[in-house]
Amino acid sequence: MRGLKFLIILVGVLSIIAIAYAGNVEKGKALFNDPKLGTSGKSCNSCHPDGKGLEQAGTKKEFNIMGKRQKSIEEAVNFCIEMALKGKALDPKGSDMADIVAYIKSLSDKVAPKKKKAIEGC
Ligand code: HEC
Repeated sequence: MRGLKFLIILVGVLSIIAIAYAGNVEKGKALFNDPKLGTSGKSCNSCHPDGKGLEQAGTKKEFNIMGKRQKSIEEAVNFCIEMALKGKALDPKGSDMADIVAYIKSLSDKVAPKKKKAIEGC
């Protein structure tokens, strides 16, 4: 019985940690540079080198990529995964998505909005 109680408490604690998971910037950066998110051989970094063009994405509520509207940053990320990387959309509530979003949000802190430039070659 003790073991069972311990297990229940452990599962409870782990789910609280999972809910509170806010994403890891370093892991997000690694995914951002990883061509395995898609099948086109490109990574996010191919079109957004060091986060170029995403400096304001962490603060926006609505997005417009290639003429299509996205209502959240998760939708915008998945749009680029599916359309630009020819990959499979990530679970919007999953930890990989949380990591990528954490990385994108970290860009808004560093770069002044005026430095935003259009992306070339896409
Ligand atoms: C083939 C090129 C390409 C690749 C690869 C790519 N993107 Fe994009 N992305 C774009 C273009 C083009 C836009 C629209 C830019 C604009 O309107 O300023 C965009 C826009 C975005 C936006 C919205 C920015 C804003 O402020 O509106 C986000 C977020 C984004 N991309 C994330 C990603 C992520 C994450 C990846 C990797 C999974 C990725 N992109 C891969 C081309 C690409």
